[in-house]
Amino acid sequence: MPGSAGLWIIVVVTAFAAAPAVSQASERGPARAIPIDQRAEISGDPAKPRRHFRVPNAARLSPQDASRIYQDFRSDLADGYALSNHPVAQAYRRWRRFNRSPYLSATHGRRHLNNYANPLAGGYGRLQPGNALPEGAIIAKDSFAVTATGDVYAGPLFIMEKMPAGFNYVSGDWRYTMIMPDGSIYGITKGTHAERVEYCIACHLAREDTDHLYFVPEAHRATD
Ligand code: HEC
Repeated sequence: MPGSAGLWIIVVVTAFAAAPAVSQASERGPARAIPIDQRAEISGDPAKPRRHFRVPNAARLSPQDASRIYQDFRSDLADGYALSNHPVAQAYRRWRRFNRSPYLSATHGRRHLNNYANPLAGGYGRLQPGNALPEGAIIAKDSFAVTATGDVYAGPLFIMEKMPAGFNYVSGDWRYTMIMPDGSIYGITKGTHAERVEYCIACHLAREDTDHLYFVPEAHRATD
């Protein structure tokens, strides 16, 4: 399409100009605000995405480095999501974490992720095919991006909540929510901008036999 490349350059330049100073992953010290990944936010068709916004140039981190960076930024991340006043955004940081250290996820936009589950989702780690988590089970994934040059950006909070039977057959009664790092709600199944989170349902549907769940990749699972 002629013209679209030009438009793309303007959008990228504007996003860079508007971006706040980035934090270097190597810096240590008191907690500071983690910048939002604005470049990632604007890629794709924001009205109806077919996949997650992707982080360009994502770094591969050792588990130790990923944990260290997360340790520095996790409360900033959670504070950002909590601005949404969404109850999960306020509660998840007290839940059990099912991965040992943040892991790079290709399917969630090449971000580093952590998976937390509430007490009702306690069976998340050992669900057998044919079984399902109960109503009220919630899994929340916070995320951050690290570029090859060491810049750290906040990513979205991804949520799956098991609703009462009959809520939505296609999603296995899961409600998908994506909350942006500034606390704005990007989309909720059967709620605000439901069309923006339809692609979550589509990909997770491939795992219908395990209640639409993919689980933490084996290498990163917490052992207890
Ligand atoms: C292209 C496929 C794909 C799409 C699209 C996708 N996911 Fe996932 N999701 C996965 C995979 C694979 C995992 C497990 C590995 C991982 O964490 O990357 C997962 C794991 C999860 C989990 C942890 C529960 C589980 O399944 O183990 C949550 C919560 C989640 N995704 C939320 C979302 C939300 C919200 C969206 C939409 C905004 C979404 N996902 C879109 C593939 C996808």
